[in-house]
Amino acid sequence: MRPPMQSASVGTTGSSATIGRCLLDLDHTSAEVIRAILQRSQQHLLSGPDARHDTLDGVTVANLFFEDSTRTRVSFSIAARRLGADVVDLTGKGSSISKGESVADTARTVEAMGVKSIVVRHHASGAAQQVADAVKCAVLNAGDGRHAHPTQGLLDALTVANALDRAESFDFSGLRIAIVGDIAHSRVARSDIGAFVKLGASVVCVGPPQLAPRSLAAMGCDVSHSLDDVIESCDAIQMLRVQFERGASIGSSRSYVDAFQLNEQRASRMKRHSIVMHPGPMNRGVEITSRVADGDQNKIFAQVTAGVAVRMAALEMTVS
Ligand code: CP
Repeated sequence: MRPPMQSASVGTTGSSATIGRCLLDLDHTSAEVIRAILQRSQQHLLSGPDARHDTLDGVTVANLFFEDSTRTRVSFSIAARRLGADVVDLTGKGSSISKGESVADTARTVEAMGVKSIVVRHHASGAAQQVADAVKCAVLNAGDGRHAHPTQGLLDALTVANALDRAESFDFSGLRIAIVGDIAHSRVARSDIGAFVKLGASVVCVGPPQLAPRSLAAMGCDVSHSLDDVIESCDAIQMLRVQFERGASIGSSRSYVDAFQLNEQRASRMKRHSIVMHPGPMNRGVEITSRVADGDQNKIFAQVTAGVAVRMAALEMTVS
């Protein structure tokens, strides 16, 4: 049976921290605000998939997805509908972008129709900022180039918190989290590092030098070129696919798989309580084997579920 309609304001988080009009990255989002979003997300997660709210009643949310997506696009749509919003979807192929209209003009156009919140994904880093500069309504970055994917960073943090008993405090002190694979081209990695480090975790980026350069240390994490060296010390491992479409190069795929694939032998060396994550889409047999992806330690579909809750919170906390 469906639970009764719930009204919920951001004030129910118990924190006065606010995101502001836009959520474009986590680099410029304080630990206090990250915790406030996670607290609200946790309320939505605990309410379950059948709970309905009216916080965005009368609001229209536009999903502008100019790059392919399964998880992010569907979950933003579901999140908006659970909050009572109307949702319109636009992709590059079926829109006037294909006739040369700019992303900024597309955003202004949908805002002029009364849209109050724009969710944007684009292959170019900085595209979400361009949209935010062009409109007055709320803007949420659903992934721009290799720059940022803030709701992914938040949903990954929510997954870690629930799996490792940190959902009361959202304090990750004492946790060691590895992000493994193609860090250099990954907006997910950038937003994960932003969230995990601000919440107090120790983060290590792992990959070959061209995909995990030493310069990543400037973001407050460690860098290792050996998964075997770090695997036993980690409480959570986020595996990433190699993003060939963004110019990633691995040389021999056999040697990449030998060194960086999370397989059964490596997974057996992880701590008993430690978890395996992947933001998707997965390339099974490359960065992760099917047995590990479907194994007892995997939280990959818990991440997807957390994504709806986080996007509900982010939509609520940005619309004015
Ligand atoms: N993790 C993620 O952004 O997946 P999608 O590209 O399917 O949205």
